[in-house]
Amino acid sequence: MAENVMDKIVSLAKRRGFIYPGSEIYGGLANTYDYGPVGTELLRNIKNLWWKNFVQKRADIVGLDSGIISHHKIWEASGHVAGFADAMIDCKNCKARMRADHLLENYIESLDEDTRQELLSNHKKNKDFTTALKTGKVEGLPIESFENIRENLSNLAKKPLVCPNCGENDWTNIRKFNLLFPVQLGIVEGEQGMGYLRGETAQGIFINFKNVADSTRVRLPFGIGQIGKMFRNEITAGNSVFRTIEFEAGEIEYFFDPEVTDWEKLYEEWKNTIWSFVTTQLGIQEKNLRWREHGDEERSFYSKRTEDLEYQFPFGVKELWGLAYRTDYDLTQHMNASKKELTIIDPQTQKKIIPHVIEPAVGMTRLLLMVLVDAYVEEENRTVLKISPKLAPYKVAVFPLLANKGELVSKAQEVFKLLSPEFMTAFDDRGNIGKRYLSQDEIGTPWCVTIDFQTLEDGMVTVRDRDTTQQERVKIENLTSYFTEKLQS
Ligand code: GAP
Repeated sequence: MAENVMDKIVSLAKRRGFIYPGSEIYGGLANTYDYGPVGTELLRNIKNLWWKNFVQKRADIVGLDSGIISHHKIWEASGHVAGFADAMIDCKNCKARMRADHLLENYIESLDEDTRQELLSNHKKNKDFTTALKTGKVEGLPIESFENIRENLSNLAKKPLVCPNCGENDWTNIRKFNLLFPVQLGIVEGEQGMGYLRGETAQGIFINFKNVADSTRVRLPFGIGQIGKMFRNEITAGNSVFRTIEFEAGEIEYFFDPEVTDWEKLYEEWKNTIWSFVTTQLGIQEKNLRWREHGDEERSFYSKRTEDLEYQFPFGVKELWGLAYRTDYDLTQHMNASKKELTIIDPQTQKKIIPHVIEPAVGMTRLLLMVLVDAYVEEENRTVLKISPKLAPYKVAVFPLLANKGELVSKAQEVFKLLSPEFMTAFDDRGNIGKRYLSQDEIGTPWCVTIDFQTLEDGMVTVRDRDTTQQERVKIENLTSYFTEKLQS
């Protein structure tokens, strides 16, 4: 049932111009997508809202836009070259390639309690295997242990671990592969000309920490935020733009002195800020959200605490937004590798310190998918995206009642010209009025304005509300303030 909903959302997203498969006319390119006219608007609105809340409205956070192509030494120092890896496995029978951690976790989730207990008692001494069974997670365990976990599960006579694609139990070994995309720059061959597409925007913040501190008036505690593309050579299991090889994220590194600022309190404040942004600004239903703390195995070795805000997607409860206390790990790594001083004076203690960071990081494109999923409603006679008006691709759609009546069309064009400088406005004169309403409902347009014969006499239009389908007459000259007020409420 839930999978079915996802299929419908994916189909609507393509049919109505939210999300298209990447490189489609050449047969497609796995795990890449393009955003159509309405998807582009939605993504832009999400990014703008993030920026407004986390940079514009915060005196303690400044913005940055660092480069996508970056020096290989950044990624060596950060640990990504050595450790930013996933495990992959192939089915020898059908040649399907998949992430080994996802395969194992999905399989463990499918086990009934009796089988799980039986496995636990048969493998008491196998620490990584029992951890995986107990937590349902293999993320964070050494990739070397995955092979052992797979073997134990594959040997389970009652329910062997078979390929989800073809049903065979015939696997290659599990191999590690690095997620970074190398790029060869200019004509210099070898290491000198080697760069990487950034695997996270965060490193751009760390390497510019001193530039920002020296060129602005920031004082600890403060944050640097940026939105930008990141690239990861991932194998993914479909699910639209949930996990792609190119995606946009919004990351903040919030720098503080742990001797002055209580990190646990700061961490809780960030949790509340994120929760409130997702529920009140993006309008997501609380019942679909939950925080989950990473266990010791899953958490990066340099992190003191990591929690994920998770969302109930139709394909499972999945990470939406990560919140990690990264300590002073990154700045220290870059300071050691670059031999440049990345310190700052704490204004309260006057001591020179390497600040610690708390990092909220979220995929903008993942937020977009969540917004579509959360807003998707099937009613008796229509499908409607109940997107928060703030995020809706079009705020208003303007229709002349009849397309073949010149006076109605020119009045509608006048109304379009009045509204479009203020709000993203659609104009539609195709088909009958009922179909135009349904068409706007499907892309989440909160209000439709119809110009009819009465308008020519009294200067009033019919405004129809997407969610209630109620209609009211409003004077044309009051439309701008009418919609402005609605968008502020
Ligand atoms: N700097 C921290 C960092 O990169 P992450 O959890 O790997 O952390 C941050 O990524 C966020 O980016 C995730 O919470 C998720 O929302 C999003 N994300 C991660 N990988 C993604 C992918 N392949 N496609 C789309 N979004 C992704």
